[in-house]
Amino acid sequence: MKNFRVHFWSFGVILFFVFSCSSEDANPDLNGNNQNSYIPLKELFKDHFFVGAAITPAHTDIRTPHGRTLVEHFNSVTAENVMKPDAIQRIKGTFTWTEADRIVQFAKENNMKVRGHTLTWHSQTPDWFFFDQTGALLSKDIALKQLEEHITAVMTRYRGMIDSWDVVNEALFDWDPDGQIIYREDSPWYKIIGESYIDSAFVYAHRADPDAKLFYNDYNSIFSWKRNKIFDLVKRLKDNNIPIHGIGLQGHWFVGTSVEDLRTTLELFRGLGVEIQITELDLSVYLSSNEPGSVVYTDEFNTRQRIAYPEIFRVLLDYSDAIAGVTFWGIGDDASWLDTPGRKHFPFLLNEQLQPKPAYFDVQRLLRR
Ligand code: G3I
Repeated sequence: MKNFRVHFWSFGVILFFVFSCSSEDANPDLNGNNQNSYIPLKELFKDHFFVGAAITPAHTDIRTPHGRTLVEHFNSVTAENVMKPDAIQRIKGTFTWTEADRIVQFAKENNMKVRGHTLTWHSQTPDWFFFDQTGALLSKDIALKQLEEHITAVMTRYRGMIDSWDVVNEALFDWDPDGQIIYREDSPWYKIIGESYIDSAFVYAHRADPDAKLFYNDYNSIFSWKRNKIFDLVKRLKDNNIPIHGIGLQGHWFVGTSVEDLRTTLELFRGLGVEIQITELDLSVYLSSNEPGSVVYTDEFNTRQRIAYPEIFRVLLDYSDAIAGVTFWGIGDDASWLDTPGRKHFPFLLNEQLQPKPAYFDVQRLLRR
C-alpha cells in the first residue's frame, strides 16, 4: 500500500510537469509573455526571408546550447571571422580551410544557407596582399593577380555551397555629409588600383562560381551620405554589366535608429533591382556612446528594445519582396563584438541564456495578427 501511494504521488508529479510544460498558458514572464509559445525565428519569417546568425566554428557543436539554438532558430549562417582573408590565407599560398569547412559542413548537415564573408576588404587582410618585403605598395598587376587567385581558390572550394558572397566589403568612405569623398581612400586596394578593384573582384567572383549571388556589403548604409554612394556604385556596376546581385546592409544599429532612414534606403535600393539582405544585424541598447555602460539588462533597455525591434522589423516586412534574408551578427546576448568590459550591448532578440526576450514576442506579434 505504501509503495502504491508513493507511485501514485510520483505519477501525479509527472503528470503535472507534462501538462504544465505543454500548456500554452504556462510560465508567463514578467511582461506577460508566454515563454513556451514562441515560434522559432526561421518559422516566424519563413514566408518573408531567411534568418541567419554570424557564428564561430565552436558554435557548430549541436551538443552545446549555441549549436542547438542555431538549429532551432536559424536557417543561414555567416562565419564571423574564419572566412576572412587573414583566416584563410594568412601566408601567401598557404590555405587554412579547417575552420571554414566546419561551418560549411554544419550548414550542409542542417539544411542551412551560408553567407560567405568576405573576399575583398582593407581589414583582416594580411600585408602580403598589398606590400612587398620592403614595405612598398605592390604594383597594380601583382595586387590584382593575388586578389584573383584568392577569390578563385576560396570560391572554387565552396562552389555550390554558398548562397551569397560579400565580394567587396566597406569600400566607401564613411563620414562625409557633403559627399565629396566617395571611396575609402586609405584602403590599400584603392591606393594601388583605384576604384576598378571593385569591378575586378566581382568579375573574378562570378567566374569562380557563376551560381553564387554576389554582394556589396557596407555599414551606415541607411544614412543619406552613404546610401547615395552605395546607390551610385551599384548602379555604375550594373550599367557596366559587372555581375553584382545584391546589397548587404550590415545593420549595426541602435535603439534610436531612424526607421524612416531605413525605409528611404530600402525604397531607393529596391529601385536598383538587386537583392537586399540585412547582413549583420545588432541593435545596441544605448542611445549614445556617452551613456554609461551596464552589464545588467535594465528595464529601460528592455523598454527601448521593445519599441525599436518591432519598428525595424515592421519596415523589413514591408520590404520583404526585396529582402531575401536577415542575418544577426551573433546568436544571443551572451556574446557580441560590441561588448567591452563593463559595457554590454544586449543587441539580440535572444538573451544571455539564448531564450527569447520580451522584444522577441513583440516582433512575433507583427506576424500573428
Ligand atoms: O585572431 C585573434 C586570436 O588569435 C586572439 O586569441 C584573439 C584575442 O582577442 O583575438 C583574435 O582576433 C580577433 C578576432 O576578432 C577574432 O576573435 C581580433 O582581435 C578582433 O579585432 C576581431 O574582431 C572582429 C572584427 O570584425 C574585426 O574587424 C569581430 O570579431 C567581428 O565581429 C567583426 O566583424 C565585422 C565584419 O566582419 C564587417 N562589418 C563590421 C563587423 C563588426 O566590426
